[in-house]
Amino acid sequence: MFSHFQDLGRNLSSEAQSFLDDAKNHLDNVVDIAASGHLVDQARIRALQAAAMIKSPPRPETLTGSGASARLGERVADRGTTRAMIVTTAGLQKRGTLDALLGALSDRGVEAVVYDKVEPDPGYQIILDGVQQYKDNNCDAVIAVGGGSAIDAAKAIVACYSNDKTPSELVGFMKVRKQVVPFSAVPTTAGTGSEVTVASVVTDPEKNAKYSIVSLKIVPSLVALDPDLTLTLPPAITAASGLDALTHAVESYVSPIKTEESADLSLRAAATIAENLPKAYEDGQDRKVREELAMASFEAGLAFTRAGVGYVHAIAHQLGGMYHMVHGEANAILMPHVMDFYKPKAKADLASLARALGAGSEDESEDQLADAFIAKLLELNAALDIPKTAAPLREEDIPEIAERALKEADGNYPVPRYMEQADCEAILRKILPDQT
Ligand SMILES: [Fe+2]
Repeated sequence: MFSHFQDLGRNLSSEAQSFLDDAKNHLDNVVDIAASGHLVDQARIRALQAAAMIKSPPRPETLTGSGASARLGERVADRGTTRAMIVTTAGLQKRGTLDALLGALSDRGVEAVVYDKVEPDPGYQIILDGVQQYKDNNCDAVIAVGGGSAIDAAKAIVACYSNDKTPSELVGFMKVRKQVVPFSAVPTTAGTGSEVTVASVVTDPEKNAKYSIVSLKIVPSLVALDPDLTLTLPPAITAASGLDALTHAVESYVSPIKTEESADLSLRAAATIAENLPKAYEDGQDRKVREELAMASFEAGLAFTRAGVGYVHAIAHQLGGMYHMVHGEANAILMPHVMDFYKPKAKADLASLARALGAGSEDESEDQLADAFIAKLLELNAALDIPKTAAPLREEDIPEIAERALKEADGNYPVPRYMEQADCEAILRKILPDQT
């Protein structure tokens, strides 16, 4: 995903704005933040936190375990659906990923219209064509099946159809006014967490830019986490998507706006991923391991919906945009360095993550445990054949990447320690090829 919360800070709703003054009064560490020029950023983040407290993101009803996608089909039928549009990619249908779901719908007399034109980074036209197909076929429900792109496209389709708007009219914060049509999701990778988040990332091909539609209304109401559908994921995709989920868990845990609930979800997801991802990488056929990872990805998605992501995502998005690096891999390469940067302000949290992952030992200091957690991240990367450097990164691009990353993060992402341009550039130089 691109910037889950990119538009939040720039398009504060009046509800959130009204919390700005209050939020300023609750700033932690004001002197330090003011000295670094991030007072307004921090106030915006606090305002968003306050707004989020008022209206928590809805949590989808979840079906889990082998056969969950067929059970989702049954549930959709039981809800009185007559014609469901499946939003997916052409490859998944060919591989038979939809078979169990389509069978369950058909057995219960629900007609299925398959819209399989979704591509990675779905553009406006894919969304508009999907809306047209939904109308032409008189559908009365949408089921997304796929990775982040399919689910994000489906979110945009239901939002545009139900509100009679184009994607560009809905880009931004809370612009989806009307309730959307019944909407379910079946994620087929354990990583993006899109099945549970409030954001849909859509691409404007004219501007070659990605934007987020952010709304509580586009969270699916029903989700199936079916390990059967992830058994054939290749090891490299398993590793990258799992590490994306781990990044969601870690970034949401070190967030200054985490809640007790989001912190529990983050820690549990991080521990589950660290334990199970190397197993899934070695043997993709283990259903139990796949199920654990699907649930952990879902929980990490819930956690970052509440507590946000941080600089790992902000920088990784630029590497994705500029060089088309795989999102999860870019996150994984960056995460140890960003955590090391956070360390002076996040020792206790990094130590808690170390304890959750079984890194270090109980008699060690917080400082040592924080280092043990960072070492554990590097160890995981090595076990999953993640390189230490970003192969396409070029020295001459570093200032622009850093500038764009800080623009994305500042005021939008809650982070324990703010970066300046030089800090961000220094991190990027650490992952330059031929320098490690
Ligand atoms: Fe991500």
